[in-house]
Formats: sequence, structure tokens, C-alpha cells
Amino acid sequence: MAIQRVVSKQAKTQVLLQSEELRGYVPETIIYTRQTLRSMLDQHGMLYIKPDSGTFGNGVIKVEQLSNKLGYRFQSGTKIRTYKSFDSLFTGLEQVRPKRRYLVQKGIQLLKHHKRRFDLRVMVQQNLSGQWESTGIIGRLSHPSKIVTNYHSGGTITPFETLMSSHMNADAQAKYLEKLRRIGVKTAIQLSVRYPNLKEIGLDVAVDTDLKPWILEVNTMPDPYIFRRLSDKGIFQRMRRYAAAYSPKRVVK
Ligand SMILES: Nc1ncnc2c1ncn2[C@@H]1O[C@H](COP(=O)(O)OP(=O)(O)OP(=O)(O)O)[C@@H](O)[C@H]1O
Ligand SMILES: [Mg+2]
Repeated sequence: MAIQRVVSKQAKTQVLLQSEELRGYVPETIIYTRQTLRSMLDQHGMLYIKPDSGTFGNGVIKVEQLSNKLGYRFQSGTKIRTYKSFDSLFTGLEQVRPKRRYLVQKGIQLLKHHKRRFDLRVMVQQNLSGQWESTGIIGRLSHPSKIVTNYHSGGTITPFETLMSSHMNADAQAKYLEKLRRIGVKTAIQLSVRYPNLKEIGLDVAVDTDLKPWILEVNTMPDPYIFRRLSDKGIFQRMRRYAAAYSPKRVVK
């Protein structure tokens, strides 16, 4: 059976919003236009805009309104631009962003570790009895001068415990992991209703400064290799075992 790939972030977000339980974890996300950018900036102050079908963090831009009506700023890669008016901000964005369908999403203030932002990847797979199971959770620490945590943009794969230890004690960490696993399984079940051939997904989860988890996006071709970094080798081995059962042709070394 072919593994299903779903590219559009907007399409996947719509499916998650249909779940009452998951809705609260999904940051407001809509199609980018001049009007939606303006109203979302008024509402949230800080946003991320990104291609509907992006990868590796390419084209992801952080946009914010500066305090005291000092204007606006965006960051794309390491390039930062500031503007006095909304109109000049919009013109500036149109010059740098690829001309594709874009989304605008409420920005989450990510937790930091040694002054660098991080987010989490939750891997969820169908296990050998065909049930959804969260098989791994790992952190991604951003390059100090970047706004994305992606490995391909200089992010560093880091264990969950290393990143969370300054934010919660071991007991709270265990509970938090349990919560993330539950959200992962619920997300997989919800997406399978619409995309029945899914076998594995990877959630990008942001944790905000109040420790609330947010689902930034769901990848349908998640990279399992980042989990090879964990000292517990059993985690990656189990991922391989599950993958071998649902996609015998795919070579996961
Ligand atoms: N709303 C947001 N608030 C805070 N940070 C965000 C937000 N959206 C994206 N980011 C940051 O940018 C990164 C890349 O965003 P996203 O995962 O949506 O893009 P991508 O190009 O699809 O990446 P990939 O497919 O490689 O995972 C996220 O992992 C996160 O670090
Ligand atoms: Mg991502």
C-alpha cells in the first residue's frame, strides 16, 4: 500500500480544526492576503507567514508589530527589515516572499534554552497491530540568529529532557510527554478520517512561555533519522520496525 503524502498545510489544518479536542492546540491559520495580514497583526502582534506547501523552513517569515506604534519588522533567514507603515511592510514582504500560496499563522513565543528558541517533533506511527502510537519525541533548537528550528536551517537536534529541564521538574516532564503522546495519537486518528492511507506523521509542536503546546504543522513524510541521535537506541529501532511493516519497499537504514 502506498504511503499517503499530504502537502497542503491548510488542508491538514482544516481537518484538525474539525476536532473539538484538537482545535485548542491549533494556532489561527488563514490564507495570506493584504487584509488577513493586517487583521492578524492587529489581533496577535506577532505572526509567521509561510508557503502552504513548504519544507525545510524555506520561505518562513516572522512578522511583528513593534511596541509603542514604532512600526513593523519582519525576519526572513537572518535578514531583518523594519518599516514605519503597514503599506511599506506589505510592499517589502511582497518583494522577498516567493509568489506562491502563503499562509499567515498566529506566532507562538517559543520557549528558550540558552537563549535559543526550540520546538518539538512528535513522531506517530501505526504499530504492528495497526494502532496509532507515538513512537518518539525530540527537540529542535534553533540557530541563535534564525527564526526557524529546522535542522536544514542550522537547528540542533536535542533531547526533550535537556530542553525542558529548566522549565519543569522530572515529574512534570513525564506528564507533559504523556500529554504530547496523546495529542499525537489524537491528531493521527483525526487525519486518518480524511486521509485513510496515512501510516506515519510528524507533528511540529511549539511550547509557549505558559507551557501550552501548539501544533504548528503536521508532516506526512517525517524524517525518522533525527531520532538516531537519542542515546536510547530502542526508539529508532522501533520506528524502523514499524516502518518496515507498513512500507516494506522503503529502506530505513
Ligand atoms: N506560528 C509559529 N510560531 C512560532 N514559530 C513558528 C511558527 N510557524 C513556524 N515556526 C517556526 O518555523 C519552523 C518551520 O515552520 P514549518 O514547520 O511550518 O515550515 P516547514 O517549511 O514546513 O518545515 P518542515 O516541513 O521542514 O518541517 C517551525 O519548526 C518553527 O520553529
Ligand atoms: Mg515543519
